[in-house]
Amino acid sequence: MNRLCVIGDPIAHSLSPIIHADFAQQLGIEIEYTKEHVTAKQLDAFLQAFFSQGGIGLNVTVPHKQAVWDWCGTLTERAQAAGAVNTLYRDRDQLVGDNTDGAGLVDDLLRLGVSLTDARVLMLGAGGAARGALLPLVQAGAQVSIHNRTQARAERLIEDLQAGRLCQPQDEAFDVVISASSAGLSDAAPSLPAAWFSRETFAYDMIYGSKPTPFIQAAQTMGVEHHADGLGMLVAQAARAFQRWFGELPDTAPVYQALRRR
Ligand code: ATR
Repeated sequence: MNRLCVIGDPIAHSLSPIIHADFAQQLGIEIEYTKEHVTAKQLDAFLQAFFSQGGIGLNVTVPHKQAVWDWCGTLTERAQAAGAVNTLYRDRDQLVGDNTDGAGLVDDLLRLGVSLTDARVLMLGAGGAARGALLPLVQAGAQVSIHNRTQARAERLIEDLQAGRLCQPQDEAFDVVISASSAGLSDAAPSLPAAWFSRETFAYDMIYGSKPTPFIQAAQTMGVEHHADGLGMLVAQAARAFQRWFGELPDTAPVYQALRRR
């Protein structure tokens, strides 16, 4: 049996076991994928036991995305750029730390029919989520501008990754505006210049929920007609993790549709 899990604190809300069970069924692979409540104090003992008992890989969520670094013999380039690991897998006798969030975002935008080649993309936020997304967006051909409540943090991100530019108040409407800010988690409605949005702008929120997020609602009041939340990104980053473990990329569409119906 291929033993996998997702670890975090809290973890009860995680949809990962459902997503991976669907992928495994789709591809005829037998897995046992559980969610494990692991506190920072328990992390080392958990990982030691999990891998010594034959676990083949796992997903990592808050608050362990940096702490698992010490366990990785190698970090992929995108995990290094993101400064965070969300997927661990075995490569021969080494544990590799990867980050599939940014690739998941790009995959989901492409699924939605959003063209990224030469697209003018505005990214809101400069925290961990934005850091993970910046290089994958640039590698997909986007020209990325960044706006963050704390400008110095956006400047540091641009300098660290040598990618993107600071968004300017006088910038014209963007093709795509992506919210990588955690503001929506506290139901905060962002206040943004209306000139950054037009009817043709595609608004994407990395956060997801059963109703439009505060960012999507704000974008709609500024005339945006096409938008999506981050449920598709969640499924797509999981698909990229699954690919790391089993070498096959599952089809995200049926899993996404099933979750949306829930
Ligand atoms: P994550 O890993 O989810 O990206 P993070 O690293 O804590 O979390 O980053 C949170 C991001 O959301 C930051 O860009 C933060 O802006 P600051 O750098 O100015 O803190 C942004 N954010 C959080 N709450 C916000 C709010 N109420 N308004 C605007 N931006 C907010």
